Amino acid sequence: MRSLIDIKELSTAEIDELITVSKDIIANPVKYSEKCRGKKLATLFYEPSTRTRLSFEAAMYELGGNVLGFASSDNSSASKGESVADTVRVVSGYADIIAMRHPKEGAPLVASMHSLVPIINAGDGGHNHPTQTLADLLTINREKGRFDNLTVGLCGDLKFGRTVHSLIGAMSRYDNVKFVLISPEELRIPGYIKKEILDRGNIDYVETRSLEDAVPELDILYMTRVQRERFFNEDDYIRLKDTYILNSGKLAKAKKDLSILHPLPRVNEISVEIDNDPRACYFEQTLNGKYIRMALILKLLGVE
Ligand code: NCD
Repeated sequence: MRSLIDIKELSTAEIDELITVSKDIIANPVKYSEKCRGKKLATLFYEPSTRTRLSFEAAMYELGGNVLGFASSDNSSASKGESVADTVRVVSGYADIIAMRHPKEGAPLVASMHSLVPIINAGDGGHNHPTQTLADLLTINREKGRFDNLTVGLCGDLKFGRTVHSLIGAMSRYDNVKFVLISPEELRIPGYIKKEILDRGNIDYVETRSLEDAVPELDILYMTRVQRERFFNEDDYIRLKDTYILNSGKLAKAKKDLSILHPLPRVNEISVEIDNDPRACYFEQTLNGKYIRMALILKLLGVE
């Protein structure tokens, strides 16, 4: 039995296989519509979500399966003090696979140690978000046709943004990928990511505060929201929240084939005037999230 807690648990060949299956699902949806008949997915979400939870549920429905779960810890027994270990032990008797989001880093890993069925980490605190990364990878693959020889700008809250941490973990395995890490001083990428991924892998990266200076060289621009819920102090959030607002002016010197991604939700980081720019990919990215979660569910359930 296999869970997915961190993107590094997937080999490059397995990522390729998930992308191939996702593309086949897109091309031949009917072929997959009964694959999970009789199977149940539980979504245990202790933190707010729109896309991640609903795309997991839509994914399971489109595979012919069923879903159960909760969308908030307030209406689960967590509010009575039940541990993640106990909840998961119980739910793994009710479902064949579990997607869990939790505000505490490491909670899905703990869950996987007590579960009888696969656990998928659907976001743990400011740590990791491997299935968002799979959505990002499918988007990059469909846009660019490759993962190597790309300059990837990551902009915004690189400290608390879990999607950024997982995406760096995934993209750093490909050849000649350069990262441009764009953030205010206070929201720079955590030291452990630099040490364990970037420095250890001898990956080319620069840190900068200026989005304008970075834009011209980028192939991918990955915008993120400032993660309000992870701040200790609201004043700091208010001071930093609008540091970057991408608008047409800032794209003036961008490449014609730049791809603009964002895991969403967007607050102010991308002006709505960009939504109709052919370089904007963030709404396609949400759809790709559903397809690749379908591929992942099939893989973890061992469905042919
Ligand atoms: C992201 C998350 O939850 O980390 N959202 C998502 O899953 N698409 C990004 C965010 O909340 O800013």
